[in-house]
Amino acid sequence: MGRIVVRGGLVVTAADEVEADVLVEGEKVVALAARGSGVGGGWSAERVIDAGGKYVIPGGVDVHTHMELPFGGTAASDTFATGTVAAAWGGTTTVVDFAVQRPGQALREGLDAWFAKAEGQCAVDYGFHLICSDVTEAALKEMDGLVAEGVTSFKLFMAYPGVFYSDDGQILRVLQRAAGNGALVMTHAENGIAIDVLVAQALAAGRTDPRYHGEVRAALLEAEATHRAIALARVAGAPLYVVHVSAQEAVAELARARDLGLPVFGETCPQYLFLSDEQLAAPGFEGAKYVCSTPLRPREHQAALWRALRTDDLQVVSTDHCPFCFSDQKELGRGDFSKIPNGLPGVEHRIDLLHQAVLDGRISRRRWIDLACAAPARMFGLYGRKGTIAPGSDADLVVYDPAARHTISAATHHMHVDYSAYEGLRITGRVDTVLSRGSVVLDRRRFTGRAGHGRYLRRGLSQYTER
Ligand code: URP
Ligand code: ZN
Ligand code: ZN
Ligand code: ZN
Repeated sequence: MGRIVVRGGLVVTAADEVEADVLVEGEKVVALAARGSGVGGGWSAERVIDAGGKYVIPGGVDVHTHMELPFGGTAASDTFATGTVAAAWGGTTTVVDFAVQRPGQALREGLDAWFAKAEGQCAVDYGFHLICSDVTEAALKEMDGLVAEGVTSFKLFMAYPGVFYSDDGQILRVLQRAAGNGALVMTHAENGIAIDVLVAQALAAGRTDPRYHGEVRAALLEAEATHRAIALARVAGAPLYVVHVSAQEAVAELARARDLGLPVFGETCPQYLFLSDEQLAAPGFEGAKYVCSTPLRPREHQAALWRALRTDDLQVVSTDHCPFCFSDQKELGRGDFSKIPNGLPGVEHRIDLLHQAVLDGRISRRRWIDLACAAPARMFGLYGRKGTIAPGSDADLVVYDPAARHTISAATHHMHVDYSAYEGLRITGRVDTVLSRGSVVLDRRRFTGRAGHGRYLRRGLSQYTER
């Protein structure tokens, strides 16, 4: 690994757009120079990558993936190996996945199990949040040590009773601990107890099709849980990050909290911005492809999500990538929607879908990079190394062709899953070349990376909650 110059592109970060050459030495960006002056002005390099007519953007940071997640009697179909290759194809060079503490386990056991799955497998860099499924006195004490080791965020589920669920007392205690050790608590905000009642009633009435998954997981039950999580965080004096926000009523709860100046943050995902409950109601069992939680909502909710992304009431777009094959895994819920494994594939398409949103006039070019790269890095203690292009940052760079057209399809994607949630969607803009810590892992749309290149990232505290 030597010196590489990425020449002649428009360097777009969350802060700036400059026509510049970028000099990479080893794993780092070492300098930017006005377009043409870098190479012309004496920079020597083993390789010059021509980015003329293209953008040079920071590698994407996807802070919500579930490679190999055991769920609903099966496991997410992308491994750390296949899922991180797909991420690289899509211009994402950092994923933060979720390790899981099972009931009865120590937090450390859960984390170690996920280290073992990912070690030596990843094509791009990776970190972990930790899902707490058994909040005990011992687990609370363990949190402090894990924060010091770079696991600085913990996810709690207000949904899925009997699986990942934590009650309000447990959530409050984790928030109180986080107020002391600086961790960021993430909540899956849906009232799982009420949803389980509605699920049982729907099934008893013979409403078994995938579309009922959306109906029982009412928007109000997302909003109620979001409100409750905010109240608990406020009582604990801790910051809060709400994952996969989909309901406009939940967005309103976040906006209200932020108007009060509370350290409350949120993400949404492309599926809530581009898809709707119409897909869930597709004929036959087709809707199973779109079963995820929170569920896809009626199209009316999308305007509120886009607005929140513009006004910064939502800060991050992640994918919640959690793929299950249609032919055999989604099939587990034929005749009972509650047995359809929850989750959608998406790690490969986030950057493209958000670029399409730039072209459609929904967000600015710099906001595209903020939502997909800078804000997620900052939110989870990676900014500086990741999420930007500056002297000293990791050389995670994407040469992006804003004019290339393509059509999303399972026939051409790289995720290990037998369907695409965006099948047939035409996109303008495409990843051309990707560097991960100075290594070219995608070279003019030829994969040149390898399993094991990706390194574990010890994260710092959230740079959003610094005072
Ligand atoms: O449907 C989803 N989102 N599956 C993954 C687990 C979760 O709730 O994030
Ligand atoms: Zn969730
Ligand atoms: Zn998730
Ligand atoms: Zn499969």
